[in-house]
Amino acid sequence: MISGPRCLAGLNVGSTVTTAVLVEDATGWDGGPGPARVIGVGEARTEGVRNRNVTHIEAATESVREALRDAEEMAGVEVGVVYAGVGGDHVEIGSSSGVVAVAREEIDQRDVDRVHEVARAILIPPDRELLHAIPQDYVVDGQAGIQDPRGMEAIRLESEVCVVTAGSPACQNLRKTIDRAGYRTQELVFSPLATSLAILTDEQRQAGVTLLEMGAAATEMLVYREGRLHLVATLPWGGATVTNDIVKGLGIPLADAETLKRTRGLASTRAAGTDEKLDIAGPTPGSTREVSRELLAHIIEQRLDEMFGIIYEALEEKQVLGALPGGVVLTGGGANLQGIVELAQTVFNMPVALGRPGAGLEGVVEAVRDPRMSAAAGLALYGRMRSRETGGGLTARTFSRFTDWLRDFF
Ligand SMILES: Nc1ncnc2c1ncn2[C@@H]1O[C@H](COP(=O)(O)OP(=O)(O)O)[C@@H](O)[C@H]1O
Ligand SMILES: [Mg+2]
Repeated sequence: MISGPRCLAGLNVGSTVTTAVLVEDATGWDGGPGPARVIGVGEARTEGVRNRNVTHIEAATESVREALRDAEEMAGVEVGVVYAGVGGDHVEIGSSSGVVAVAREEIDQRDVDRVHEVARAILIPPDRELLHAIPQDYVVDGQAGIQDPRGMEAIRLESEVCVVTAGSPACQNLRKTIDRAGYRTQELVFSPLATSLAILTDEQRQAGVTLLEMGAAATEMLVYREGRLHLVATLPWGGATVTNDIVKGLGIPLADAETLKRTRGLASTRAAGTDEKLDIAGPTPGSTREVSRELLAHIIEQRLDEMFGIIYEALEEKQVLGALPGGVVLTGGGANLQGIVELAQTVFNMPVALGRPGAGLEGVVEAVRDPRMSAAAGLALYGRMRSRETGGGLTARTFSRFTDWLRDFF
């Protein structure tokens, strides 16, 4: 069966920036799945959103429309449906298990589907929505730790799933916003999970890794242990917290502080030359004064050191510090700060890397190769994976670089 390329849209309404990425999922030369081609990227300032929750539908609608139009214009296509990211501290993970009797002698896909169905059939309170139920592993006739039970002879099959739920009001308002912008929400996706698709490798997940997505007003944390999603948290600070410190510390306007941070900011005092000076706005209009770059670096370093320190302590408290050979991966716009990887390395005392989308992508890859774009890129990739699972034509369940843990993602 021949099918044309499908276009998948990822949309992330971040705390300050709304981003959209369109990818095309072409069939490879051999009829199998081809690579994901990035064909459009768009962005707009986020309005009408606080703490990642839509607080003003009209305003947020404009941001969504602008970001998607931008991406559509670049790609020269129109998309009707989007995969949209949800985040914030209303998102929670838990686990649930299910048991079924194996229908025939050998466990087959139908048994696996049934046990997932049972495991995910949990009671969701009316004010919450089920976003994902991710199969973790299986118990076959009492034997735990089975990764793929298909083909095994057994009587009883149990499965544990990781359940991700979100507050309904936040989900409903986001859907409504997307609707009003003229699009339909194909699925709401826990955005850090989508981010991890664009950023993390299977090896990192297996080894154990912490992903920190630093936005302006929030930092989202995901911890994988032995390939499983182990912890999620939303911390109520990010790049804007640093900028506010610069405003206070140097007594300059917000816009100046933001520009200064991006152009001359450093996450480590040691990296700043002691005699390097910066011109900043003076006390009277039009006047300027000099401060040392070291002072700017000092302000930034202090705050980041504190933020990473809080995360370090949280990981210590949850007893996962020793289980993260994959280290820490920083992404999100806030991770663009110069020297941030080195600083994080000293605080966490483990390997730290900067995560930018790009691996496994073709097309206008340069446009997404920025830590700010990782959520939207991941959402588009998530959409591609889902459309392959559910859409006809292409053989499902072949996810080249994408991983077993997502194989049965629903
Ligand atoms: N080049 C840069 N250097 C330092 N910080 C940056 C840079 N670019 C963006 N940021 C910071 O990233 C944050 C925004 O992150 P982003 O992921 O784009 O937005 P959102 O909060 O909407 O998810 C802001 O606090 C901004 O100051
Ligand atoms: Mg972001």
